[in-house]
Amino acid sequence: MKTQTKIAVLTSGGDAPGMNATIRAVVRTAIHHDMEVFGVRRGFQGLVENAFIPLVTTSVSNILQRGGTILKTARSDDFQTKEGRALAYKHLSEKGITQLVILGGDGSFRGAMEFNEEYPDVNVVGIPCTIDKDISGTDYTIGFDTAVNTAVEAIDKIRDTAHAHDRLFIVEVMGRDTGYIALHSGVACGAEDILIPETVTNMDRIMDRIASDAKREKLVRIIVVAEGDDIGGVEVVKELIKKNLPEVQPRIAILGHIQRGGSPSYHDRWVASHFGYHAIKSILRGEKNVMVGFHHGEIRAEPMGQIKNLNNSLKEETLIMAKILSS
Ligand code: F6P
Repeated sequence: MKTQTKIAVLTSGGDAPGMNATIRAVVRTAIHHDMEVFGVRRGFQGLVENAFIPLVTTSVSNILQRGGTILKTARSDDFQTKEGRALAYKHLSEKGITQLVILGGDGSFRGAMEFNEEYPDVNVVGIPCTIDKDISGTDYTIGFDTAVNTAVEAIDKIRDTAHAHDRLFIVEVMGRDTGYIALHSGVACGAEDILIPETVTNMDRIMDRIASDAKREKLVRIIVVAEGDDIGGVEVVKELIKKNLPEVQPRIAILGHIQRGGSPSYHDRWVASHFGYHAIKSILRGEKNVMVGFHHGEIRAEPMGQIKNLNNSLKEETLIMAKILSS
C-alpha cells in the first residue's frame, strides 16, 4: 500500500502578485496526484507556531485573480534559530509532511536550504515569487510583470501632469538592490533617464543633458530611479538638480508598495499556473531541493543550492537604447 505523500505550501518574504495563482496550481495539482496538502500561515513563522491549515480543491477557488497571498507571509526571526527550526521540524514530522513548497525570493530559499541541511528528510521545492526578478536560476520571477505594469501605469499618469506644467519628475520604483523594474518601466515609459544600481550614476552628465534639452525647449523629463541606486534615492537627485539648475523645479513620486499589490497580469497567472504545476511534477519525479524556473522559455527544476541573489547581467545596450529613444 503506497503511503500518501503529504505536502505543505507557504509564502515567504515580500508578497508578489501571482502568489495566489501559484498556491492554486500547487494545491490542485497535488490533490490530482492524491497528495494531502497543508497550507502554512505567515511563512516560516507558521512552521514554528504550528499554524497549518488543510487545503482542499475549494480552498483555492476564486483566488487566481487576487493579489497578495491567502496564506499571508512574514519575516521570521524564530526560524533563524536552531531551536525555531527544530520546532518547525517537529510540527512537520508530527503531520507526516515530507515535502515543503516555498513561494518566495532568494532569502526564503536560503532559509529553506539551511533547514533542509539540518532535516534532509524534508524535501524543499522553491517557486520564485518576487517582483524584483533578482534570482539567478530563472529568467523570470512571478510578480515582476504585474509590478512593472503598475509602475508603467503610474509613470504614464505622471507624464500627463509633467507635460501640463513642463515639469521634471523623479520617480522611485522598487527592486531592493536591482534595477529590473526601473529598466523595464523606464523603457516602456520613454523615461529620459533611468538610474539603476548595476551601473554608476553620473549626475553631472544627466544635468548637462537637462540643461541642453532645455535650450531646445524640451523641458518635460521623467527620471526613473531604482530604490537601490548608488545615488541614494529621489531626494538626493532632487536636491542635486535644484542646487545646480535652480531654474528647474523638480517634483518627486515614490511608487512604493503599490507595486506589490493588484490583480496579477495574464503573464503572471500563466507563469504561476505552470510553476505550481511543475513543482508537484518535480516531487513526483523524486527530485530533491530544486527551484522551478524559466530557462530560455523552457521550464526546468534546478538545484536550489545554486540559487543566489545575483544581479543577472543587465543589458548596457538597453540603457543606451533608452537614451536614444527618449532624446
Ligand atoms: O523584495 C520585494 C520588495 O518589494 C523589494 O522590491 C522592496 O525593496 C522590499 O520588498 C520591501 O520590503 P518590505 O515590504 O519589508 O518593506
